[in-house]
Amino acid sequence: MTSKLRSWLIGPPVVVFLVSCPDPAATIIEREQVLAAAAVATTLLHAATARGFGSIWLTGWPAYAPEAHAVLGLAPGESVIGLFPIGTPLKRPAERPRPIIDRIVTDWIG
Ligand SMILES: Cc1cc2nc3c(=O)[nH]c(=O)nc-3n(C[C@H](O)[C@H](O)[C@H](O)COP(=O)(O)O)c2cc1C
Repeated sequence: MTSKLRSWLIGPPVVVFLVSCPDPAATIIEREQVLAAAAVATTLLHAATARGFGSIWLTGWPAYAPEAHAVLGLAPGESVIGLFPIGTPLKRPAERPRPIIDRIVTDWIG
């Protein structure tokens, strides 16, 4: 698994693995702790972009396979929020269809 993970990671100069480590003793419920870690993911993407780098939020087997967790040294209860390769993009990614904003945002007028 270590070599499989290594070969998967070849390419970008840096790959950040963002791990959620909820504290079961905290008064904040676990779901909110995980959501807070996911918020870090978005901030990381903005920070990389602001610095002129490219990045992407990935998951897949490196994020979910128990064997990958073992290689990464995750403790019980920890989970991978995502993997973030960071580097200088070789080409600009193609644009993709975006949601129509009026279909996903509603106004509550009371
Ligand atoms: C939790 C999460 C997991 C994702 N996992 C993958 C993935 O494994 N592979 C992938 O190609 N895109 C994945 N994406 C989508 C990309 O991060 C990204 O949103 C997509 O390439 C579109 O980027 P854009 O919205 O900037 O156009 C994931 C997104 C999220 C939020």
